[in-house]
Amino acid sequence: MNSGKNFIGSTLGKKIMVAISGLLFCFFLLFHFANNLIIFTGADNFNFLVSSLEKIKPLVRLLEVLLVIILITHIINTVLLTLKSKRSGSAPKNTAGSKHSTFSSRTMFFSGSILFIFIVTHLSTFWYNFQITENHSSYYKIVTDSQLGFGNIFITLLYLMAMIFLGFHIKHGFSSALITLGLSSTILGRLINKIAFLFWLVIPSGFFMIAFWFGILKGGL
Ligand code: HEM
Repeated sequence: MNSGKNFIGSTLGKKIMVAISGLLFCFFLLFHFANNLIIFTGADNFNFLVSSLEKIKPLVRLLEVLLVIILITHIINTVLLTLKSKRSGSAPKNTAGSKHSTFSSRTMFFSGSILFIFIVTHLSTFWYNFQITENHSSYYKIVTDSQLGFGNIFITLLYLMAMIFLGFHIKHGFSSALITLGLSSTILGRLINKIAFLFWLVIPSGFFMIAFWFGILKGGL
């Protein structure tokens, strides 16, 4: 019991929790992205998909609670690790001060903060309004042309910017997580690295395209 507490409190324990929570969130993004692609097929299909999820509401709620736990675990441990490395004056390995630091690695905390603002905005607009609306044929409209969605140029610009940061954040996050979990030089690690572009390139670009298509090309109409 005590050794479990010590582990969670240790730097390695925190890094492992950041790595696992980040990877779990990536799987949610894959699922979320696949669901959202339906939006390109038109209002009827999108409204039908969202209404169908109503039928499995208890499961959706359970997954949402798990997601909140995953996100909080990720954020709290990242903040604690950053504070610790600032206090000790040392940059975390493979990040800021490292010889091999990259743009993605140096901006992890910054990109994470932008993503936090994005998620809060995203949930207080799309998610919240999906919960309170009684009109099942309004979901598509809320996303594509309301002032809470891509009918609002400021929301669209926030999405476009956030998706670029999401790509950088996941790119570094993935390789960092593999190092933390001791997988980077294993066959499994190399295999995961090969498919990681799906998470840091394809998914953020796809989300970017949704915002660009409805917010810029279709002008929110
Ligand atoms: C163009 C991009 C995106 C669109 C159109 C979109 C759309 C939506 C919609 C419509 C909902 C409400 C679903 C419901 O209540 O049934 C939702 C929920 C959510 N979104 Fe997004 N999303 C996008 C990108 C993202 C990104 C990049 C993230 C995370 C970094 C994210 C995280 C979430 C979370 C955590 C929820 C609440 C859980 C859920 O209900 O599924 N979304 N999103």
